[in-house]
Amino acid sequence: MRKGLERGLILVMAAALAVLGYVGVRLYQDLVLRAEQSQVPIGGPFTLIDQAGATRTEKDLLGQPAVVYFGYTYCPDVCPTELINIVGALDLLGPKAKQVRAVFITIDPERDTQKVMADFVSNLGGGIIGLTGTPEQVAAAARAYRVYYQKGKPKPDGAYTVDHSGFVYILDRQGRYAAHLGPNAAPEKIADKLRALL
Ligand code: NI
Repeated sequence: MRKGLERGLILVMAAALAVLGYVGVRLYQDLVLRAEQSQVPIGGPFTLIDQAGATRTEKDLLGQPAVVYFGYTYCPDVCPTELINIVGALDLLGPKAKQVRAVFITIDPERDTQKVMADFVSNLGGGIIGLTGTPEQVAAAARAYRVYYQKGKPKPDGAYTVDHSGFVYILDRQGRYAAHLGPNAAPEKIADKLRALL
């Protein structure tokens, strides 16, 4: 009799655990779904200056799909490669490249002055718009795009690197985040994403 009671209790507890487990899994799934639906938006307001000294804001990204990359001209490897890939993607788009805006935003405004950016984007080709600004303006733009960057410790000669995230952002005609690629996204991949928005 006592054995039977124990067995009964164990069964009840097992059933209770199963119900709790089920509820737990459902709650977890619900939380994941909600987190996915309320994704932190990428993009937002910024005020910067282009290589010609003109003020540019997020409104300049309206009307055409855009590819946006944050980096710095002194970057030893990743940035130049990725920017060359973006130029490659524009080449692949052919005449349609005119319908796309390509923007390079520095996260090293200290060294990437308007003049430095002008020389850099002109060497790069592809009609890329180079944006810089005050450290505060750059920080605000990076924040809007969830870009991480951290200046490294300068060497005795003053040279330093900047650690930074290297995603290529694709925005739609409304200036809204459409996709991101990379780091090290190939020209074909970038071109595909842009073509889908044309
Ligand atoms: Ni870089």
